[in-house]
Amino acid sequence: MSNGQDIPLSRPDITALEIDHVVQTLKSGRLSIGPMQEQFEALVAARADTRYAVAVSSGTCGLHLGLLALGIKPGDEVITTPFSFIASSNAILYVGAKPVFVDINPRTLNLDPNQVEEAITPRTKAVLGVEAFGNPSHMIELANLCQKHEIPLVEDSCEGFGGTHRGRPIGSFGRLGVFAFYPNKQITCGEGGMIVTDDERLADLCRSMRNQGRPVDPTDPAEPAWQAPGSWLMHERLGYNYRLSEIHAALGVAQCKRLDEILELRNGVASKYMSRLMGMPDIILPTVDPETTMSWFVFVVRLSSEFSAENRDRILAGMRRHEVGVSNYFPPIHLQPFYMRQFGYSDGDFPITESVAQRTIALPFHTRLREREIDLVCQTLEVMIQREKFTIDRSS
Ligand SMILES: Cc1ncc(COP(=O)(O)O)c(C=O)c1O
Repeated sequence: MSNGQDIPLSRPDITALEIDHVVQTLKSGRLSIGPMQEQFEALVAARADTRYAVAVSSGTCGLHLGLLALGIKPGDEVITTPFSFIASSNAILYVGAKPVFVDINPRTLNLDPNQVEEAITPRTKAVLGVEAFGNPSHMIELANLCQKHEIPLVEDSCEGFGGTHRGRPIGSFGRLGVFAFYPNKQITCGEGGMIVTDDERLADLCRSMRNQGRPVDPTDPAEPAWQAPGSWLMHERLGYNYRLSEIHAALGVAQCKRLDEILELRNGVASKYMSRLMGMPDIILPTVDPETTMSWFVFVVRLSSEFSAENRDRILAGMRRHEVGVSNYFPPIHLQPFYMRQFGYSDGDFPITESVAQRTIALPFHTRLREREIDLVCQTLEVMIQREKFTIDRSS
């Protein structure tokens, strides 16, 4: 997101439609649990081609509720990727289970299904697969693998809303999928998330748990019958306040209505980057499977293997000095201080993840990025890489 830079890393696409939806909702007097939530859920379920969608206040909350609804508990193990945003494995810790990391495929940056199969033990109670940067490669293989071993696939689709693979929408491969709508995502609610599933029991459990463990359809507190049994003050299970407000949902509804337009603009920016950077030595471009329609979340390039993490970090710093917003998506989860302390991980545990993560550069990426800004980003990148190569040559 914008750090006050001339060309920010990301920027939400908000038009009069979003503003109007939010203002109308504010005027309606109904600010929680209302028609906007219902509409937003219906729009997301339609897009993910799932029977149910449950709106929650963030992607992280969605993963937490999804794992709870699947009955994942202390002592269980969940196989997941170390190359992701930290929330994907933190959610496993929230339910008291153990994240078991498996290294990634260096081309797709997603979990390597062969290594996942080798890591399955009787303690494995789920696989939490992430569509890294929105890329759904291997999700079908992971779903088949999970089916074979009779364990659920939790699809962390927080980075991939709107994409498809072999004609199937992202979010529909797992027993449940989770989307996120933070402002750097394809579409945003400000903060928000959505659980999608075809399983009515899971959807109902998530609906209850997001609303303090109330029955799925508690009587509205504004209704005279609200003190009746089964009403607002009845709590059937341990629940949370993970509700999405009507204001956030209204923003989500408007963004969903513009989803195709937004994805097309993002696709246009990605194509421009691709053609502009195609011939550049020292850079590895994102690979997209021909059977995938990408919903571009970020545009991440990788430096070639002669560059170290220090080289990359100096390139990032140089670009930022030139007011270009860039980031190192993502440092490996197992090397985060908390995970190293808690689980004793160290450098070298997941070599592919580490080698990829130390050379990534996320470039500015949003719908309004103009051609000349893309040119400027690429030129700055080129100059910074050349400067860094000069230091590599001098020291060798
Ligand atoms: C892969 C992944 N999982 C989970 C999340 C968490 O989503 P949120 O920030 O909405 O809690 C994110 C958000 O960036 C993510 O990228």
